[in-house]
Amino acid sequence: TWTTENYIEEEISHIKDLAGDKKVLCALSGGVDSSVAAVLVHKAVGDNLTCVFVDHGLLRKDEGDQVEEIFKNKFKMNFIRVNAKDRFLGKLAGVEDPEKKRKIIGEEFIRLFEEEAKKLGEIDYLVQGTLYPDIIESGTETASVIKSHHNVGGLPEDMQFKLIEPFKYLFKDEVRAVGTELGLPEEIVWRQPFPGPGLAVRVLGEITEEKLHIVREADAIVREEIKKAGLDRAIWQYFAVLPNIKSVGVMGDERTYAHTIGIRAITSSDAMTADWARIPHDVLERMSNRIVNEVDNVNRIVYDITSKPPSTVEWE
Ligand code: XMP
Repeated sequence: TWTTENYIEEEISHIKDLAGDKKVLCALSGGVDSSVAAVLVHKAVGDNLTCVFVDHGLLRKDEGDQVEEIFKNKFKMNFIRVNAKDRFLGKLAGVEDPEKKRKIIGEEFIRLFEEEAKKLGEIDYLVQGTLYPDIIESGTETASVIKSHHNVGGLPEDMQFKLIEPFKYLFKDEVRAVGTELGLPEEIVWRQPFPGPGLAVRVLGEITEEKLHIVREADAIVREEIKKAGLDRAIWQYFAVLPNIKSVGVMGDERTYAHTIGIRAITSSDAMTADWARIPHDVLERMSNRIVNEVDNVNRIVYDITSKPPSTVEWE
């Protein structure tokens, strides 16, 4: 019978046999799949594993520090954090088109990863958090987008790694069970999906540090209130977007002219189709009050009530 304990034991011994004392590399995103894969492979090969975490400056509030704390300090893994905010924002300056933004980020991500890999010398294996559904669905647009970014499928020809894919035959819920068994914290194991290009596709149009700051702070409030309301496992994704429109408001005796924040929350089982989440009005009210009060330069909050299709989950 399949149990998580058996699975972990067998997979560790399998990876040990496969990798021997060769060097293994993992592109860690902080998402469920790559995180659980990294911890599992670490159990098998120890310090022969190096994790590279590219912080593109487009992560959610405190996310980079959390990932570093868990893998470097808690699990004591070889962990390289590449702080590349300026490099990414530099390349993205003035760029408005969503697909151009994605392309720039994907390419820069791979370039940085490649640079780090080269510094490490001879690497034999690459860890990938591929799941069974990724394999059966590959070829679909979303899957290939995710692959080209997260799973670093775009590495140049001269960088050929052999793959370690411990979850090739597992589903998400099984990976979560493995992660829990391995002692990964709930914030990782139950983390909502987050796009590789990060907040870049949640600031509509041109990205600036100010806009990133606004959407990041608003998003932190949305997440906090969803968690407080106990809805974090029932709702597939929940986040804030900055549509890049300003409107008139009033605060005290003052007229304001400030940003609008959109709240997006969806229920889904695979993100291929989705419905907008019927969040209780009092939870929406708390989010709205808090965002307007706590985040500078925001005076209006809207809730996205479209399903997918015809909308998409993200606004870009
Ligand atoms: P859409 O917006 O296409 O999103 O309905 C479907 C799912 O995919 C995620 N998403 C992305 N993930 N890179 C990613 O890794 C991307 O460029 C990207 N765009 C969308 C989205 O968050 C949702 O879960």
